[in-house]
Amino acid sequence: MLNFAFHNPTKLIFGKGQLAQLKTEVPKHGKKVLLTYGGGSIKRNGLYDQVIGLLEEIGAEVYELSGIEPNPRISTVRKGVQMCKEHGIDFLLAVGGGSVIDGTKAIAAGAKYEGDTWDIVLRKHIPTEALPFGTVLTLAATGSEMNAGSVITNWETNEKYGWGSPVTFPQFSILDPVHTFTVPLDQTIYGMVDIMSHVLETYFHQGTNALLQDRFCESLLRTMIETAPKLVKDLENYELRETVLYSGTMALNGVLAMGIQGDWATHNIEHAVSAVYDIPHGGGLAILFPNWMKHVMDENIGRFVQFATRVFDVNPEGKTDREVALEGIEALRSFWTSIGAPSRLADYDINDEQLEVMAEKTMIRGPFGNFKKLDKEDALAIYRASL
Ligand code: NZQ
Ligand code: ZN
Repeated sequence: MLNFAFHNPTKLIFGKGQLAQLKTEVPKHGKKVLLTYGGGSIKRNGLYDQVIGLLEEIGAEVYELSGIEPNPRISTVRKGVQMCKEHGIDFLLAVGGGSVIDGTKAIAAGAKYEGDTWDIVLRKHIPTEALPFGTVLTLAATGSEMNAGSVITNWETNEKYGWGSPVTFPQFSILDPVHTFTVPLDQTIYGMVDIMSHVLETYFHQGTNALLQDRFCESLLRTMIETAPKLVKDLENYELRETVLYSGTMALNGVLAMGIQGDWATHNIEHAVSAVYDIPHGGGLAILFPNWMKHVMDENIGRFVQFATRVFDVNPEGKTDREVALEGIEALRSFWTSIGAPSRLADYDINDEQLEVMAEKTMIRGPFGNFKKLDKEDALAIYRASL
């Protein structure tokens, strides 16, 4: 294991009817609240009215920023920063999926910075403070509700980058599985692929003596493999939504990754696709991950054999390691296809025209990935295999 320090300050409030906790949590941070949300799902499903009702009960002065896009844009973040500065906002409350939360993290940090918030995303300015914020999560996917990461898109330059800071952990996050009942089938699928991908990014490490970390990852993956096929047929099932919601948070709140360094190349390669084509993150991952696996498996075939046998119960008898590894990768692909995830870039009408442009974008911080260092040529090969 690598040496590590684990510190996650987010208070996780989980379960049915927990929204009312807003009345205790919000007043700890101030009166002037900027409520941030997306394109209107919370208005349609009634959550907006409930949140406003609770904020009124505690006498909060509420300002609103709506329209945070899926793949949240720096232009909208700038509007939020402006509002915080203009109204002297004390606290931000994000109600939505990962995009709303990520956008809110950028607003929270941008509100305490004189320059342009895009400097923070580019890591040219390292924030040392941010406005406090809480979240009410409505979609199980990113883990943003209990981590400090944020991914922001600049649509003018077609760039999408992740950044994070110890000052951008949510103060609290409220997770009620009922709030995820209205997530449509496609977003439910993308969310589950994203959750599994976070575990896979962690699992494909080159560390030693990570017995427990590996078993944690395998358990989470097997839990998703058991649950996802049921949930796609029964979107308002409380217990299935509950399992997936809890899994999503655990997949990327740092618990799985203690003492190991995950890979994260596939996320980098996917972000370059959604920067250019604005596709859903989980959809992109479903297409790319198995192809990344095939591209790098010879770097440490034993890890892929372990994945195949322990996660998908591939029988290794009479087979070479490579055959077992490939069977595991195919099992992942078939599983994702079986729940309705896309498998080719062509599913999003993406052809080979922009492959060079996307591959170039993967290199913003130089060679990437920790399982195997990749460069532009590797990214191109993975894109080509994904067409
Ligand atoms: O905008 P609204 O109207 O709210 O609709 C959203 C959006 O259209 C809808 N939705 C959310 N909750 C709903 C709902 N519709 C009905 N009922 C509900 N309860 O779903 C659509 C997608 O929402 P979005 O927030 O974009 O999805 P997700 O949570 O998958 O977030 C994706 C973004 O997070 C980034 C991705 O790159 C992408 O930009 N990521 C953030 C990470 C992090 N902060 O740690 C890590 C991830 O790997 C990822 O990169
Ligand atoms: Zn992800």
